[in-house]
Amino acid sequence: MYKINENYLNLQGSYLFSTIARKISDYQQANPEKKIIRLGIGDVTQPLAPSIIRALHNAVDEMGTAEGFHGYGPEQGYAFLREAIAANDYQARGCDISPDEIFISDGAKCDVGNIQEIFSIDNRVAVCDPVYPVYVDTNVMAGRSGSYSAAIGGFENLIYMPCTEANGFVPEFPKEVPDLIYLCFPNNPTGMTITKSGLQDWVDYANLHGSIILYDAAYEAYISDPDVPHSIYECDGARTCAIEMHSFSKNAGFTGLRLGYTVIPKDLNRNGVTLHSLWDRRHGTRYNGAPYIVQKAGEAVYSEQGKQELKAQISYYMNNAKTIREGLSAAGYTVYGGVNAPYIWLKVPGMSWDFFDYLLNTVQVVGTPGQGFGAAGEGFFRLTAFGTYENSVEALARIKSL
Ligand code: MLT
Repeated sequence: MYKINENYLNLQGSYLFSTIARKISDYQQANPEKKIIRLGIGDVTQPLAPSIIRALHNAVDEMGTAEGFHGYGPEQGYAFLREAIAANDYQARGCDISPDEIFISDGAKCDVGNIQEIFSIDNRVAVCDPVYPVYVDTNVMAGRSGSYSAAIGGFENLIYMPCTEANGFVPEFPKEVPDLIYLCFPNNPTGMTITKSGLQDWVDYANLHGSIILYDAAYEAYISDPDVPHSIYECDGARTCAIEMHSFSKNAGFTGLRLGYTVIPKDLNRNGVTLHSLWDRRHGTRYNGAPYIVQKAGEAVYSEQGKQELKAQISYYMNNAKTIREGLSAAGYTVYGGVNAPYIWLKVPGMSWDFFDYLLNTVQVVGTPGQGFGAAGEGFFRLTAFGTYENSVEALARIKSL
């Protein structure tokens, strides 16, 4: 008789953004005349940039010719994209990363979820609290988390690193040394960042203890402060302790196209086995590569024209962030984030899901309850800057009217 993976029974409720989508849908069905403004899930709203559209059209046309047709590609990604990433995202910033250390995928969410597979089940995992739920849930599914404890508001075997107002939303080193440490900066959900010297401390800590940092850099394109690192490889020694994941969703609007990548330096090795070789083996076995058409679109992100167009798109979203942040501050709210990141972390003492329900039912604005990201998110509420400018202004006016 077959047995199920009982680790799944440890998961708490449904995936955060699925729960929110269901609540919105229930509300809309009951109130079809109401116009809901969605600033919940961090999904972009601006159309794809012209350079990207052109690259997509060209690649589609190529695929319709005998000479231009592409079947299975290299599982790790086409050289043209890996080379463009290495040159632009790393070498141009002084980071020593080569194209063959970059693995192209269909998105950072899959990679941050899948990467734990190449590590032993008995690794101790540390996550920030609040945290992007994928890091936690995938370790629960794998059986690394232990049981959920209502008393601690988390899983018994995970190490939680609270990110609070008191520590500026940057985690402190935990009491117990973890093997795997998930970090995400600019941070989802708080929208806060870490300085280069702060990140260097984490790199030194990981190298000292033989830990690995799994660094999610999905929001790096939103950084404007020169003191905030775009990549963990800007820090000395990161090649021996860090894996980094990137997304094309937030910097180039690929949420519906799907493209991302993971960097695994060849220096990461345990007892003579490189993590690069394990991920390479996994990728080759489980994955047939991101679509050629989408990788060509990814290449256009690094063209001169593409860079200009995307810079304008990021400025558009960051203007929304500024509008929401300054408007809510002026209305008396305490707000964090929204300066080097497209998320605004709003303080709503004593509320979280209650604030979600209140906003949806009263003014039809959707955000994400902080508590959905972890116990330390209680009393906070996340708004995204990824809406249209008009909707951001309208949402602000509605919240101010409460
Ligand atoms: C979020 O809203 O936290 C993100 O959009 C989710 C994601 O990128 O998967």
